[in-house]
Amino acid sequence: MSKMRLRGFENASGQRHVSEDDRYLYRREEPRFRLVIIGTGTMGQEHMRVAALLGRARIHGIYDTQSLSMDTAEANFLSLQSQPLVRYNDLSSACNDPAADALLICTPNHTHFDVLRTAMQSNKPIFLEKPMATELQDAAEIVRANEAYESFIQIGLQYRYKPQYLEAFREALDNRALGQIKTVSVSEYRPPFLDKVDQWNKFARLSGGTLVEKCCHYFDLINLLAEARPQRVYASGGQAVNFVDFERNGVKSDIDDHAFVAIDYANGVRASFTLNMFCPDFAEELIVVGDAGRLKAEEYHDIHRSGSGNASLTIKLGENGLSKTSDLTYPRAIEQSGHHGSTYFEHIALMDRLEGKEVDSATPRQGMWAMVVASAAQQSLALGRPIDVDRFILDHDLASLLNR
Ligand SMILES: NC(=O)c1ccc[n+]([C@@H]2O[C@H](COP(=O)([O-])OP(=O)(O)OC[C@H]3O[C@@H](n4cnc5c(N)ncnc54)[C@H](O)[C@@H]3O)[C@@H](O)[C@H]2O)c1
Repeated sequence: MSKMRLRGFENASGQRHVSEDDRYLYRREEPRFRLVIIGTGTMGQEHMRVAALLGRARIHGIYDTQSLSMDTAEANFLSLQSQPLVRYNDLSSACNDPAADALLICTPNHTHFDVLRTAMQSNKPIFLEKPMATELQDAAEIVRANEAYESFIQIGLQYRYKPQYLEAFREALDNRALGQIKTVSVSEYRPPFLDKVDQWNKFARLSGGTLVEKCCHYFDLINLLAEARPQRVYASGGQAVNFVDFERNGVKSDIDDHAFVAIDYANGVRASFTLNMFCPDFAEELIVVGDAGRLKAEEYHDIHRSGSGNASLTIKLGENGLSKTSDLTYPRAIEQSGHHGSTYFEHIALMDRLEGKEVDSATPRQGMWAMVVASAAQQSLALGRPIDVDRFILDHDLASLLNR
């Protein structure tokens, strides 16, 4: 059968009269894998939708400590899958159902480590949302445990599959179109953190801090582009606007809403990251400059005006070659399924890995390095001085793990 999917026709109301027997172009393989979602909040539900859209796995069961989250996920999912969902009463049953092929952990950051420990007792493949942990020691233990694990752990750093970054990697790393990379700068301008169950993302203790919670995505991208070890991190930032009057159970929110971070890498690459979280819309920008050219990758999403955003890539090579600007799109259904289509491609990697193929999804070690940069930046921000990463690694007793 053709690999071409024409979802626009396949799902159109005008095609519903085509019976199962007559389906050829629209016929799909039965989903091969069965997934269990642990934590059915915003991101857990995105994974459910994306799995259904991709069609290589079906959602077998769900577990959440809040029944409203399970009820909502189940209701929202009704139209996407005909088979009913198993609702587990406790974490251990969710992790150890013999019918499940993989577990997706989408609970708040501060719960990742404990939930993962229970999940690993199953020896099943595990997808763990980012950031892998809120504490470096826990992240280190996950990296070590993964090395001895008989299955695999994939980390939810899926921005690498956003169209503009995929293309940036292709040009900067695969094609070496920019020559030797010298500087990398990333910025994100966006609205405040959204409401969450128990408002875990308003407190650094529960989220790991803004630079760990949200910005681990960007530090992962920067690490991949720099292709070297971070040496020095300096950050300046704080909480200027968001949640300054927010408190829960007498505890005030302590979540940073803006920051500037500078990172020096061992190979001479210099990087910067800018965050501002009190904007009306979403804008991401990556600029990479090498000794032969410059590229700019952008994504812009005006949430007040349209359902999905725009992405583009511009390369300027001057007299070294071709300069171009490309408009980058995934099909609408994929783009709108979450995170500009990147979650969909993250699921392709997960399915491929379940089929035993090599994939380029985020490993626990990569997740750990993103956390090292983020945590060093958090510390720099708190102390007001640059952090030497080797010293930081020694101070956190991570040398034996990260110096190899
Ligand atoms: N990869 C991405 O781009 C991305 C985007 C958003 C969120 N996330 C990550 O996904 C995770 C969940 O975030 P969210 O936005 O869905 O939060 P959320 O608050 O909307 O949902 C979290 C859910 O987990 C449940 N929960 C809490 N503790 C639990 C436990 N011990 N066992 C089972 N369920 C538990 C809560 O009741 C809630 O329903 C976080 O780690 C977050 O950082 C990743």
